[in-house]
Amino acid sequence: MKSLQISSFEEYKDVYAYSVQNPEGFWGDVAEHFTWKKKWDQVLDWNFTEPQVAWFKGAQLNITENCLDRHLVDRGDDVAILWESNDPDEAFRKITYRELHREVCKFAHVLTQQGAKKGDRICLYMPMVPELTVAVLACARIGAIHSVVFGGFSAQSIADRIQDAACNLVVTADGTMRGNKEIFLKNIMDDALVHCPTVERVIVLERSNSPISMIKGRDVFYGEEMARMEGQGLTDFPAVAMEAEDPLFILYTSGSTGKPKGVVHTCAGYMVFAAYTFQNIFQYKRGQIYFCTADIGWITGHSYIVYGPLASGATNVMFEGIPTFPDAGRFWEIVDKFKVNILYTAPTAIRSLMAYGLDYVKNKDLSSLQVLGSVGEPINEEAWNWFNTHIGKGNCPIVDTWWQTETGGILISPLANITPTKPCFATLPLPGVQPMLVDEKGEEIVGNGVSGNLCIKFPWPGIIRTTYGDHERCRTTYFATYENLYFTSDGCLRDEDGYYRITGRVDDVMNISGHRIGTAEVENAINMHTGVIESAVVAFPHEIKGQGIYAYVILSDHSHQPDQIRKDISATVTRIIGAIARPDKIQFVTGLPKTRSGKIMRRILRKIAEGELSNLGDTSTLLDPNVVDQIKEERL
Ligand code: WTA
Repeated sequence: MKSLQISSFEEYKDVYAYSVQNPEGFWGDVAEHFTWKKKWDQVLDWNFTEPQVAWFKGAQLNITENCLDRHLVDRGDDVAILWESNDPDEAFRKITYRELHREVCKFAHVLTQQGAKKGDRICLYMPMVPELTVAVLACARIGAIHSVVFGGFSAQSIADRIQDAACNLVVTADGTMRGNKEIFLKNIMDDALVHCPTVERVIVLERSNSPISMIKGRDVFYGEEMARMEGQGLTDFPAVAMEAEDPLFILYTSGSTGKPKGVVHTCAGYMVFAAYTFQNIFQYKRGQIYFCTADIGWITGHSYIVYGPLASGATNVMFEGIPTFPDAGRFWEIVDKFKVNILYTAPTAIRSLMAYGLDYVKNKDLSSLQVLGSVGEPINEEAWNWFNTHIGKGNCPIVDTWWQTETGGILISPLANITPTKPCFATLPLPGVQPMLVDEKGEEIVGNGVSGNLCIKFPWPGIIRTTYGDHERCRTTYFATYENLYFTSDGCLRDEDGYYRITGRVDDVMNISGHRIGTAEVENAINMHTGVIESAVVAFPHEIKGQGIYAYVILSDHSHQPDQIRKDISATVTRIIGAIARPDKIQFVTGLPKTRSGKIMRRILRKIAEGELSNLGDTSTLLDPNVVDQIKEERL
């Protein structure tokens, strides 16, 4: 069979043209490269009105047969995971595909014995250890729907997510070290579970060995259960047959309203898209060492640590820690240690390491690197140049990959060593992806050298299917702004060469260190504090994080100590959402700029936070234009 990989720019152009002219033919050919229990009757059935999208209708499969079983024939002894601890003195782990298959099968038995079955929702709140990958794949093996919650979220956020999906089982760990700091995962989970009556069982991985309370009849240890399966010879587990459009996972992400939404991806289309994009963008070749620095708690970890690489038989470096522990040379240390060939990271990490200077890079051998990748936010020119010069030594293409939780996989990106790159440009769409720029009214903006709102006009296999439990929300958020288009909420420029540059969100979603956080979510959290009457949150440019959080807060009593209240408000946000959403600046104000109908004019607040004080635009529609002057004067 012809390789899935495109090997020249000419070929890319041909394949792209074919994929637009005959999407079903194109994706049908791609899908032939996977293992199916039953082939599809129809490649695509869709409309963007409801929306309703079904790829590979009638097919049956299990994604784990593609990630594990099919490799056993000729690459069972290839390494699937090279794991590096947070602690540089702890030995690394090496797990082959055969070993991973066995662990996943055993854990599938554990889940089943604890009562889990096809269609159940299982919440995973775990450290970056191989057992997380095992748990994710074991859910998929039995047909349960995983909902991974990032280890930085608070008890309240976990509870919201568990309740929304009505999970009946949880997998967590006692704790995990991130740098010098321990995160007490089980304790946080216990706090969450007070509000989650649907959860019947909790499986606890022993990782930090810190004291925890195990609840009789509810909590069991991962290690003990796995040993029991081993003892009973339960080391194989037949993969459950899934329909192509059965849900594979839910992943919660922020939007412009206060409540995070559960983005649902399904089995067949997601698998095909994650693997196809992985192989083409990174041009992965067997034996190469690939290192994605994301956390599995985010979509990048789902698609480009777990499913894409494993469905491609790749060797993955998985890292538990943070880039600055024990010092700012840790990533480069890992690249040197494992002779990493492909490094996929985020602009915020690059900027933070850049700030530590070159001493941490100097004595590391980075000569194994061949391809660099960036994801999560627009990469600024300075970071791009530093990454290119000091890490890639001018020899490695940088693939600036644009995509979203909702897109399942990368939509716009160079293919490494194939697409000519340009700093800060995500360049060109992947085959099968049809971007379109529109103006405010939804009219298509044609030609080059233009900018507008980025939409996609035809489905790709990894597209969001629904928001869990609320299909109407999916429709109104993504498919109702412009008729017959998927709206990304990103602004975008298409230059003279037809290259795309993503300029950032046009809705009320902030991008803090590559993490998506809605302004409304942070406002809701701030407003929980007893001393707060009202608040408004906007993003402002931040040197390391890309964007920082600026909060304007009206207090009920101004005579109290402002510094103490600032700390209290930060603590409230940390408790309600998590430390990632803590405001960088809190300015106390006596009023907010509102229109006569009571709507906060964020545009003005954003400009003030950005320091653009002279050109605030039209303020004549404000109820009380004087508040603006006061806010300007007291700006932090
Ligand atoms: C932004 C992360 C510019 C964008 C995979 C998008 C980017 C949001 C890029 C999705 C990029 C992601 N260049 N902006 N290469 N990649 N974004 O859901 O605003 O966490 O809408 O998915 O991140 O964030 P999410």
